[in-house]
Amino acid sequence: NVLAGRPRDLAGRRVVVSAGGTREFLDPVRFLGNRSSGRQGLALAEAAAARGAEVTLVAANVALPTPAGVERIDVTTTAELRDAVLKSSVGADAVVMAAAPADFRPATYADAKIKKRTDGAAPTIELVENPDVLAELVRSRPAGAAEPFIAGFAAETGDANGSVLDHARAKLARKGCDLLVVNDVSGGGVFGQDDNDVLLLTADGAAAPVGRRPKAEVAHVIWDTIVQRLG
Ligand code: CTP
Ligand code: CA
Repeated sequence: NVLAGRPRDLAGRRVVVSAGGTREFLDPVRFLGNRSSGRQGLALAEAAAARGAEVTLVAANVALPTPAGVERIDVTTTAELRDAVLKSSVGADAVVMAAAPADFRPATYADAKIKKRTDGAAPTIELVENPDVLAELVRSRPAGAAEPFIAGFAAETGDANGSVLDHARAKLARKGCDLLVVNDVSGGGVFGQDDNDVLLLTADGAAAPVGRRPKAEVAHVIWDTIVQRLG
C-alpha cells in the first residue's frame, strides 16, 4: 500500500498546486468551461500536506472540500488563476499545474445578458488567447535556478501527427517544465473518475508509466518523483 508509512519527506517545503477548470464569462449568466473536476489536483494537495509540506491550493471552480491543512485560494478565470499561481509560487520549492485553464476567452464581455435575435441569426463569439501560466512560470524562474521544480499535466490523444508520447514530448519541450504528467485520453473518460492512468515524462527524456491507480496513489507517485529531484 503506497499510502501506508509515507515519510514526511516534504517537511520544510512549500508547494503550490493548481486544480480544476477555469471559466470564461460571455455575459452575467454564461461561460465557456471544461470538464476538469479538480480531483487529481486535490489529491496532490492532500498528499503533499500528509508528507509535511506547506501547501497552497489554487482551485478553479472545484466543488470538493479542501483537504486538511491546505491553504486554498479560489479563482474563476485563467487570468485570476495566473495571478494567484504566480504570486504564491515566489519562493516555493515546487509548483504542480494540475488545473485545466481555458486556452481562450471571449474577446468581449457583455454587461447585460445576450438576447436571442428576432431574425433568428446565431451570434458569432470571437475568442482571444489566454496567457500560458505554466510557460510563464518557467520563464520567470531565474536562469540556472533549480527551484521551484515545475510540473505540468497534459491530456493527449494520438492522431495522424503522432502518438500520445510524441505529442507529450513535444509539449514538454515547448513548455520547458521539469515534469509532464501525461494522460492518454484516447479511450474517453478520465474526468470526474477516482482512478487515473498516467505516464511521467521528465526533462531528461525518461518516460515512466504509473498504471491505472486511484488518484491518491498517483499523487504520491508524482511527489516521489519530485522529492527525488529536489535538492
Ligand atoms: N496550462 C497553463 N496555462 C494555460 C494552458 C495550460 O498553465 N493557458 C498548463 C496546464 O495547467 C497543464 C499544461 O499547461 O499543466 C498543459 O496544458 P495543455 O492544455 O495540455 O497545454 P496547451 O499548451 O494548452 O496545449 P493544447 O493545445 O494541447 O491544449
Ligand atoms: Ca490547453
